[in-house]
Amino acid sequence: MSKNFKKNLLSLILIFAMLFTFSGCATTNPNQSNSNNQTSQTTKTSDNSGKIKIGFSFDTLNLERWQHDRDYFVQRAKELGADVLVQSANSDSQTQYSQCQNLIAQGIKVLVIIPHDGSAIAPIVEEAHKAGVKVLAYDRLIMNADVDAYVSFDNEKVGELQAEYITKLVPKGNYFLLEGSPTDNNAKLFEQGQKKVLQPLVDKGDIKIVGEQWAQDWLTQNAYNIMQNALTANNNKIDAVVDANDSTALGAIRALQEQNLAGKVAISGQDADLANCQLIVEGKQSMTVYKPVKEEATKGADVAIALAKGEDINANGKVNNGKIDVPSVLLTPVAVDKNNMVDTIIKDGFHSLDEVYKNVPKDQWPKQ
Ligand code: BGC
Repeated sequence: MSKNFKKNLLSLILIFAMLFTFSGCATTNPNQSNSNNQTSQTTKTSDNSGKIKIGFSFDTLNLERWQHDRDYFVQRAKELGADVLVQSANSDSQTQYSQCQNLIAQGIKVLVIIPHDGSAIAPIVEEAHKAGVKVLAYDRLIMNADVDAYVSFDNEKVGELQAEYITKLVPKGNYFLLEGSPTDNNAKLFEQGQKKVLQPLVDKGDIKIVGEQWAQDWLTQNAYNIMQNALTANNNKIDAVVDANDSTALGAIRALQEQNLAGKVAISGQDADLANCQLIVEGKQSMTVYKPVKEEATKGADVAIALAKGEDINANGKVNNGKIDVPSVLLTPVAVDKNNMVDTIIKDGFHSLDEVYKNVPKDQWPKQ
C-alpha cells in the first residue's frame, strides 16, 4: 500500500465517521425544519432512536388552559417513551394546515389536532392517512373526515351545567348568551346544552333571552365589546349572562364592572382559569365548569400511543362528525362555585389555595 493511498483511505473513513455522527444529531425543533433536507434528517433520527414521534397541533397556546394540556400531554407521552413535536397556529386556519403538513413530513406516527376550524382542517386527515399517520381530534372535533379517534369531555353537558347553575340562581329575568367561537364545534355543543335547559323556561315566560352573540376566537377583548354593546342596548337591564368560557367571561365581567354590575349579574364560565377562580371566590363570577385537563391530556397521550401501536383505544362512546361515528373517549365535566372550589380545583392541585384566594382577606379563607 502506497503512503498516498493509505492517507486517502484514512481521510475517507474520517469523512464517513463525521457524516454518521452528524446525521444522528439532527435537531427536532419543529419551528426550524421547513426544508426537505432537515425533514429527512429528523425522520432518520426517529428511526435511530426507535421512539414513537407524535405531532401535536394546537389552535393556540395563548389561552391558559391549552398550556396545561400541552404540559400534561408531553409529560405522559414521555413517561410512555414517546416524543412530542408541538406546534401552535396562533388561531389561524392556514397556519395550522401547513404546520400539520410539516409535522407529517417529520416522520410522526400520530397527528393530534385541536382544530381552529373543525371544517377547514378536515382534508389534512386524508393527507395524514396517505402518509401512514393516524389522526386524533383532541378536545374539538374535526368535521366530515375519517378521524381515527376523539378525546374530549361531554360538551353538551358543559352547556347544561352552565345554564342549570345560572337558572337556579336567577329563575326569572333577562338573559344574555355570550357564546364561543363560531368555527369551534364545541361552541355549538355548549350552546345546544344551554338551550336544552333554557328553552322550557323561555316557553314558560320565566326568562327572556335579550340577545345572543358569538365571540370570534374566544377572545376576551371581543367578549368585552359584545357585553358593552349588550348592556347599552338593554339599558343595563340584564340579570344573567350564560357565558361559554372563562376567557370570554373575563371580558364580560370587565364590561359589567364598568357599570358597577360585577357581582350583581350572574355569569357562568368554563375552564377554571386562575383569574376566573379568583373572581369566583371574590363573588364576581358565579361559576365555572372544571374539566380536569390532566385527565384529558393523559387520556389523549394514552390514545395517541395506542393508535401508533395499532392497539385498542378503549373508547366509551362515538360522536358523529357528519361523515362517520368517531370512536371517542368522553370525560365528565364538573360545575364549580365558591362552595366546592376547595374540594375540586384546589384538591386536584390544579391551582393552589394561596393563588385562588390571593385577593380575599386571609380571615375569610376556607379552613382546609
Ligand atoms: C374548549 C374550551 C375552551 C375554548 C377556548 C373549547 O373548544 O373546549 O375548554 O375554553 O375552546 O379555547
